[in-house]
Order: sequence, then structure tokens, then C-alpha cells
Amino acid sequence: MALRTIESLGRLLGKRVIVRCDLNVPLDDGVITDDGRIRASLGTIQELTRGGAAVVAISHLGRPDGEADARFSLAPVATRLGELLGAPVAFASDTVGAAARDTVDGLQPGQVALLENLRFEGAETSKDHERREEFAKRLARFGDAFVSDGFGVVHRKQASVYELAQQLPSAAGRLVETELRVLERLTRDPAKPYTVVLGGSKVSDKLGVIEALLPKVDRLLIGGGMLFTFLAAQGHAIGKSLLDADHLDTVKRYMTEAADRGVELVIPSDVVVASHFGADAEHVVARADAIESTPFGANGIGLDIGPETAARFAELITTSTTVFWNGPMGVFELEPFAAGTKAVAEALTEVKGLGVVGGGDSAAAIRQLGFRDEQFGHVSTGGGASLEFLEGEELPGLEVLGWR
Ligand code: 3PG
Repeated sequence: MALRTIESLGRLLGKRVIVRCDLNVPLDDGVITDDGRIRASLGTIQELTRGGAAVVAISHLGRPDGEADARFSLAPVATRLGELLGAPVAFASDTVGAAARDTVDGLQPGQVALLENLRFEGAETSKDHERREEFAKRLARFGDAFVSDGFGVVHRKQASVYELAQQLPSAAGRLVETELRVLERLTRDPAKPYTVVLGGSKVSDKLGVIEALLPKVDRLLIGGGMLFTFLAAQGHAIGKSLLDADHLDTVKRYMTEAADRGVELVIPSDVVVASHFGADAEHVVARADAIESTPFGANGIGLDIGPETAARFAELITTSTTVFWNGPMGVFELEPFAAGTKAVAEALTEVKGLGVVGGGDSAAAIRQLGFRDEQFGHVSTGGGASLEFLEGEELPGLEVLGWR
């Protein structure tokens, strides 16, 4: 079955539409540090309001654990959403209580409201289907139709993603449609050469995607904290660098499988090694097989790929037709260890075919490093969701909208 789209909901003039967005943006002391996900939500909201609907936007933010917690309030997001829409967004200080009811009742066609963080209610993420369903029914009273547009959360079987879609006429929003169109190009017959660049700290987060992509890719480039587990699997000493000892055998198996399949698995030849973790740390470039030979000895900690590796990655990326990148190459938040991530981002902007930045951290990284979304083929709003999609997992939030 095909994904139901907004067209399937018929005429929306004068109707109230609940839109599940993923407005889970990074906050620093209540200040939004990257509004990419809010911007990505605008298209669907504007299409609906221009069509004469009133929009009740809903979202989670962080993982507040079923209790109201001011640090995770969506209030700053409502303000930013209003600024970007050019019209105020009414904010309800609860999710299904009196404030939400009053806010929704006061909404006129063409206007937008945002309810407080859904995860302030334990029922949103409960393992118990009936509890989730009961919460979804309460949310459903606020709308005549439901549009699911929080791509970043479609891999979660949660009340506002799954059960709510069963309570009302429901369809996917434009962001979900766009994300799927692009991600499908990475899984169904991708144009070759196809290169996947993986970084980030945890090997365990990437196991599924490596497994699923090995049969499809020509080149797999490994950076970020996880590269040290690959170096350890090759038998190299890695000082105090990150090691996922539980997955050494799996990593060895991937290296063998890549060789058997003729996939070029590229593990860094040099790395930036620091005296300790910190922006003020002393640091040197070392051969990847001699990390402990720096002045820091066995205390050295690898925090970025080295310049030789960055140049090689850039060459492999720019000579590819399809590239997917997930996970920073180093601790890009600290200036001395940002060069690897910057080099990969720069190379991705030069890809002639399709260059996709996947995921929360990598998307935040490119913006923090001064790149604009428009410089890339696509910047996904989904971290876990895009990885699970590439892994071929069933995504409950899509399945409930008729996908596959
Ligand atoms: C994300 O940041 O990937 C999404 O907003 C989902 O958040 P979650 O991992 O807390 O469910």
C-alpha cells in the first residue's frame, strides 16, 4: 500500500488539523541552538493554513520521562515557530488539559497553536498500548484530521505517532514525503559509485546500518569515535581513545565481509591525538597504527581523523555519485578537532549526484560549522529514523499511514 498523503484528507477548509512535528531541537539554557527542525516543519503547516485549516501542532522535546519539566518546555519553540511563520503561535501550557482545550477552542482558520511537550505525559511513550491509545483519544478530540510530519520520530511506536493516526483520518505530511523520496534513492538502485560515510561515537548505533548497507555500497568510510574500535580490531594500540570492546568481533566480521564483497572499507591512516579531552588540550597528528608513540604515550586520546585521511575521504566523496553521511568525524564542537568533519561536509557539497546528510548530530554539525542546508542534496531531520529506514526496519509511524 502506498503512503497516504494530504490529498487523501479531502477539503480542509475550516477544519482543525493536528500536525505531529518533530520539534526536538537542541536547547542551551532555554535558547534554541539549531532551529533546523522547526524550519523543516514550516512547509506542511503553511500549506494547511493557506488552505484555510487551523493547525494544532504537537511534538516532543528531549526525554523528560513523563513529568512536566521546565527545561524541556516547548515554549521557546512556539516563539521561534511564530517568528518563522510571521504570525504568532498560541502556546498551550499542557497537552490535553484545560490550557490545551482553551487554546484549541480559540483557534481560527489559518491560525496555529502548539501544545506543550507530549512527553510530559507518561502515556505518550508508555509500553502499554491501551495507555497510549487512551492518551491518543484525548489528543484526537482537538482535530478533524491528523497529519504525521515528524519524520525524526516515525521509528517510535508512541501515542502521537502511531495510535493517534488510528483515531482520525490521517496522512503523511510533506516533510515525511520528501524524506522518504530521498532515502528511497539510497536504498533502491542507488546511482554508483555509492559511498557511505559513518562517524559518531558508538559502533553499536551503526551496526545495523553497516550490515544493511554492505551489500549495496562501493565504499564505506569510517570516522568518529567508532574508528578506534576498527583500529583496535586491526590490532593497533589506541591509548585512551573510545573503544567498544563488546563489538570487536563484529567489526572484524565486517572487515572480512567488505573484502569478500569487494567493498572498499576505508579506515583512517592518521588521527589527531590529544593529551586529554578538552578544547585546551595539546594535540598532534599521529599515524593510526602508532597512536601511543606521541608524547602523550598510552594516555593519548584520538579526537579527530587526521589531515591525510580527511583528504582521502574528500577525494572518495567528491568522486561518488551517491553519498550518505551520518555522524561527525571528530569532536567538532571543539575547534581543534573540527577539521575532519569540516572536510567531509565541504566534500559533500561538491557531490555531483545526491549527497545526503543524515541525522540530528551531523545536521547540527554542518550548521554549526557554517554550512547552509541548501549546499547539500538533502539534510535529513531524522537521526535514528533515517538509520532505521536504511536498515530496512519496519517503521510504525509510516506503516500506520499505509506505507508498504
Ligand atoms: C531524534 O532526535 O532523533 C528524534 O526527535 C527522536 O527522539 P528520541 O530518540 O528521543 O525518540
